[in-house]
Amino acid sequence: MRIIVTAGPTREFLDDVRFLSNPSSGRMGFAVAEAAAQAGHRVTLVAGPVSLPTPAGVERVDVVSAVRMREAVVERFDACDALVMAAAVCDYRPARRHKGKIRKTDEDLVLRLRRNPDILAELGGRKGGRILMGFALEADLDRRSALRKLTSKNLDAIVLNTVRAFGAGRSTVEIITSSGESSTLRDAAKEDIARRLVSLLQEMRLRAAE
Ligand code: CTP
Repeated sequence: MRIIVTAGPTREFLDDVRFLSNPSSGRMGFAVAEAAAQAGHRVTLVAGPVSLPTPAGVERVDVVSAVRMREAVVERFDACDALVMAAAVCDYRPARRHKGKIRKTDEDLVLRLRRNPDILAELGGRKGGRILMGFALEADLDRRSALRKLTSKNLDAIVLNTVRAFGAGRSTVEIITSSGESSTLRDAAKEDIARRLVSLLQEMRLRAAE
């Protein structure tokens, strides 16, 4: 399969020296890219700003903002068989990016934020025969909200994880598919979770071809 994997945070700059972001390390997405390449797939990894080495055999495209991540994914989407959105995409960006540096004053500073595009939701709307896998980052393992994302973004599977996964080497996740199956991996290494997700992509691909 030709698989696009996104990983890491996005950065949304408010001036030339400051940005909004989140603590995503990119480890989960990089592990998925590596496992997919090891299983013989052609992998493009669209990575936000992270300090991780590119896994062997993986094509890497570096991006900074959500808007640029969307462009990089949309450009390659038609030619892919599966998209795994492991990136922690910022939902908002500053409405305006100041040139140079915002100087402080004695007043409070009010920032206006604009909605970023929802990459998965957009591509879920025109996925054709492609397999779409999303991640749901919840404060707790909130199943209802993950199921809502699975349906509303037209996904084949969603990986539910919590904010405790940020930056960690291990994580507890629940994998839920659109056909109603679910499995939980408790305190598993991200590499093991990644291999499981790649197997699931392969199973779903085989099932779709039957
Ligand atoms: N996602 C995306 N584009 C966005 C935001 C999220 O493609 N602008 C993707 C993420 O990569 C992830 C999935 O959508 O695979 C769910 O992301 P999450 O942040 O959990 O949910 P949101 O849809 O952003 O909803 P909320 O923040 O309200 O929980």
